Amino acid sequence: MLCGPQRGSTFVLKTLLDPGNEVIFFSPYFVEYHFYVDYHGGVATVVPTDAHFDLNLEALESALTPRSKVVLINSPNNPTGVIYRPPRSSNWASCSNARSASLTPGSIC
Ligand SMILES: Cc1ncc(COP(=O)(O)O)c(C=O)c1O
Repeated sequence: MLCGPQRGSTFVLKTLLDPGNEVIFFSPYFVEYHFYVDYHGGVATVVPTDAHFDLNLEALESALTPRSKVVLINSPNNPTGVIYRPPRSSNWASCSNARSASLTPGSIC
């Protein structure tokens, strides 16, 4: 349990990231995400959501590389307000090559 999503996100990134590791997040995204990633030596990779601002798993699959370490999942999403629901929310980790950690800052209250 942590005090606020910013602390939770940055503590986890500090723990997981080695310099040059990629952190993937979906657009639109909370504007501070780039700063969180940069601060810990990561490289931000932004992938699009679909036409309903829902998770775009095809785009996620395409963005994964051997350097991918973290996928930031923010639900309810800030700024769109979208809540990611099954099956997409439960299938995202099944993308091939997925060996990433997820964060759900919006659910850390
Ligand atoms: C997704 C997300 N991450 C991080 C933050 C930053 O949270 P705080 O600085 O309050 O810990 C917010 C605040 O609204 C947020 O919505």
